[in-house]
Amino acid sequence: MALVNTKEMFEKAYNGGYAVGAFNVNNMEIVQGITEAAREVNAPLILQVSKGARAYANHTYLVKLVEAAVIECPNIPIALHLDHGPDFETCKSCIDGGFTSVMIDASSKPFEENIEITKKVVEYAHDHGVVVEAELGTLAGIEDDVKVAAHAASYTRPEEVEEFVTKTGCDSLAIAIGTSHGAYKFTADQCTRNEKGILVPPPLRFDVLEEVSKRLPGFPIVLHGSSSVPQEFVKMINENGGQMPDAVGIPEEQLRKAASLSVCKINIDSDLRLAMTGTIRQFMAQNPGKFDPREYLKPARAAIKEMVMHKMIDVLGCNGKA
Ligand code: G3H
Ligand code: 13P
Ligand code: ZN
Repeated sequence: MALVNTKEMFEKAYNGGYAVGAFNVNNMEIVQGITEAAREVNAPLILQVSKGARAYANHTYLVKLVEAAVIECPNIPIALHLDHGPDFETCKSCIDGGFTSVMIDASSKPFEENIEITKKVVEYAHDHGVVVEAELGTLAGIEDDVKVAAHAASYTRPEEVEEFVTKTGCDSLAIAIGTSHGAYKFTADQCTRNEKGILVPPPLRFDVLEEVSKRLPGFPIVLHGSSSVPQEFVKMINENGGQMPDAVGIPEEQLRKAASLSVCKINIDSDLRLAMTGTIRQFMAQNPGKFDPREYLKPARAAIKEMVMHKMIDVLGCNGKA
């Protein structure tokens, strides 16, 4: 099948109590690792591209890699999504250039301005059969070149969501309930430590999610910043020359709960980066004489595939739903 937008995916996910995984892609091995996982567990899939990915790999290369994946996985619905579109022009360029879904992220702007920019993107996107994700509330962490300190982040205000969705016509809404971008989601003083000395982050604000869902029945909610930062990969990195002290993510059981509620799309990027980097570091340390990139990218791609399969089966619950 051709690339699809996320409309039907989200309807099924909402009614089925699961979420579709949205994974960031930057090169061929990442695209292959993710799509091989989706094909193996028969899951719908969102491949997303950030402004940074377009700057790194080039729009055309990324679109063609995703089109290749669509050919290789004929039975899986795949959407191509712009992650954190910073302005109308970037969204337009992706809509004109083959994407089936875009995010306009004007969450750092005042409420009225966010509405105005989002509405403009929605009008253009809908005219072209493309769906739009918008955002209300601010996540902490790093996305593209924007760094938001934890104290500057703010939860979504449920009393604003109906007006925002009605006035903009957006198709899904990313909300801030305590997730955060990157591998260092929380400072040590925001966390407690468990008996093994591992940092335990504050729980997600399910009360905010529930209040938003009550006000927007049937409407798909999106969670960004949802990597869990698996400690086995942090350890693998640190044992092989890396330095990532106190990297901490969102516990998977909390994401599983969110997926069973109104959350239809969960964004995961950092966990794939950790799996890829840990695997390459370990390979390099164990094979100092090797220099063929295929030899270290092959296990890295396999690690991404394994990570995505785990997410689809144990966290998102989207396996078998293609
Ligand atoms: O939220 C941002 C994603 O993890 C993409 O990251 O801007 O480094 O491509 P990037
Ligand atoms: P993580 O950094 O938690 O993987 O979040 C990715 C994300 O939200 C992409 O938009
Ligand atoms: Zn994000």
